[in-house]
Amino acid sequence: MGQTHKIHLLWFFFIICLFGYDQGLAKGAFGGLACNWGLQSTHPLPPSIVVKLLKDNGFTKVKLFEADPGALKALGRSGIQVMVGIPNDMLAGLASSVRNAEAWVQQNVSNYISRYGTDIRLVAVANEPFLHTYKDMFVQTTFPALQNIQAAIIKAGLGKQVKVTIPLNADVYQTDTGLPSGGDFRPDIKDLMVNIVKFLQDNGDPLTINIYPFLSLQADPNFPKEYAFFNNTANPLVDGSIVYTNVYDANFDTLISTLEKNGFGQIPVIVGEVGWPTDGDPNGNIDNARRFNQALLNRILQGQGSPKRRTPPDVYLFSLIDEDNKSVQPGNFERHWGIFNFDGSIKYPLDMGNGRPIVAARGVRYLAKQWCVMAPSATVLDPNVLAQSISYACQYADCTSLGYASSCGNLDARANASYAFNMYYQTMNQRKDSCVFNNLSTVTTMDPSQGTCRFEIMIDIGKHELAPSSNKSSASRIQSLIMALVLGLVVVICGVH
Ligand SMILES: *[C@@H]1O[C@H](CO)[C@@H](O)[C@H](O)[C@H]1NC(C)=O
Ligand SMILES: *[C@@H]1O[C@H](CO)[C@@H](O)[C@H](O)[C@H]1NC(C)=O
Ligand SMILES: *[C@@H]1O[C@H](CO)[C@@H](O)[C@H](O)[C@H]1NC(C)=O
Ligand SMILES: *[C@@H]1O[C@H](CO)[C@@H](O)[C@H](O)[C@H]1NC(C)=O
Ligand SMILES: *[C@@H]1O[C@H](CO)[C@@H](O)[C@H](O)[C@H]1NC(C)=O
Ligand SMILES: *[C@@H]1O[C@H](CO)[C@@H](O)[C@H](O)[C@H]1NC(C)=O
Repeated sequence: MGQTHKIHLLWFFFIICLFGYDQGLAKGAFGGLACNWGLQSTHPLPPSIVVKLLKDNGFTKVKLFEADPGALKALGRSGIQVMVGIPNDMLAGLASSVRNAEAWVQQNVSNYISRYGTDIRLVAVANEPFLHTYKDMFVQTTFPALQNIQAAIIKAGLGKQVKVTIPLNADVYQTDTGLPSGGDFRPDIKDLMVNIVKFLQDNGDPLTINIYPFLSLQADPNFPKEYAFFNNTANPLVDGSIVYTNVYDANFDTLISTLEKNGFGQIPVIVGEVGWPTDGDPNGNIDNARRFNQALLNRILQGQGSPKRRTPPDVYLFSLIDEDNKSVQPGNFERHWGIFNFDGSIKYPLDMGNGRPIVAARGVRYLAKQWCVMAPSATVLDPNVLAQSISYACQYADCTSLGYASSCGNLDARANASYAFNMYYQTMNQRKDSCVFNNLSTVTTMDPSQGTCRFEIMIDIGKHELAPSSNKSSASRIQSLIMALVLGLVVVICGVH
């Protein structure tokens, strides 16, 4: 057991040794990009690879939705600033006593700063707690939780270094005139919002808002498409002396007007989430995502603010990588927000600044190059049996790419079944008994991908049957030992240089 561990460690040093120089060059070449790193994936990338991916692409800030130990440790001494989130289901406990908040801050903030050198700058209390669809579920607990966390951070001696905020959905404000200048808080939560923003301002904390032009377009078939893409020059929205060519600025300025109207015109604002998905919706595709995200990146890199607030806000891209275990309640697109696929491979070219192209994750280990597909010899005597098999596979694996107008939406019935079988097989780490669909399936080494439809191979998370077990033959033990020695030598030579 210990031996495979050591070999992994040696590989780690070997890779650092190989790429260390190259990484030094990349450092400091970019301004400062920020993104969300979500973890709701059946096959998450190892945190150390994600941190390298962030640095390689010029990200200097990252937002986590929870205080994940693996991520927070890997971010230690990385030079990346961290916003760490508190999920909504923890609010009640944190609101009920300042003791609970102190324990949370001790374990999930102070601990990582002092032991791992993680540069935590912000704690995001709750996530979109006042979404209309949550009804009033978190209306009572959000503000007390915020107050308790703020008090606990001050008590821990981190008041200057670590700020608190609440990432809010854009439906906490609205405009009755249809223009940004008419902005004000939603009436049912107006008093609460005023109290929260006053508290944040008094403590020198920023306000965080999530803005989704994609959702504006997706929700309304009559929404002017160019307006979602920063380019409605032909038919802009005119608000007094200001001309809005895009919904992103108009939405942001509706918030700024709201804040001004309520006496908070100076509070710093962060855009906590903004992005475009690549799949799972007629508007969610590679072309649209590339168009939106490149225009967004250009604005960020040029330091562009909105008409009402010229100072650019920090903008956290949503999202870094796809997450195949997210709820699809908002829609199939929910699992496809990444600028990278789940494995850190590139979806589409992006200029990350000064002509620097986006670069893929390095050092990713995959399962074997094999897929589970419908057997060529299989005859569908009973269509119900096939339908049941597909539905079983899709109950446990992500089939959102099979939907209408999605990347695998045009497959014929056999390929469609193959896609579902393969997703299940991969999600189950290519376990032998996971490619047995009523004798309709078989394993192949020929890549069944076609057109826009990518038949994935999952990454190796150490759970497949061929994973090194503790019960090794003596021959393989000797092999491991030799490999360890060779790698050890490489490390020593590397170290000398
Ligand atoms: C996927 O999400 C469900 C609930 O949201 C959770 O119970 C399950 O453990 C998750 N699976 C993986 C592999 O993370
Ligand atoms: C943070 O700290 C609390 C202790 O109050 C602990 O129960 C919790 O699981 C920790 N982790 C996360 C991810 O919040
Ligand atoms: C904006 O739209 C015009 C046509 O209205 C088009 O010519 C131009 O290429 C577009 N620019 C971008 C950046 O999309
Ligand atoms: C493909 O599979 C999906 C998901 O099970 C299903 O909704 C769709 O109808 C299937 N399409 C065809 C052509 O079989
Ligand atoms: C699969 O095939 C085997 C042998 O050809 C047969 O014994 C078995 O009953 C079949 N299973 C199903 C579910 O059709
Ligand atoms: C190790 O492998 C042998 C045969 O390959 C088997 O008999 C034995 O039960 C295995 N031991 C463990 C602990 O898995």
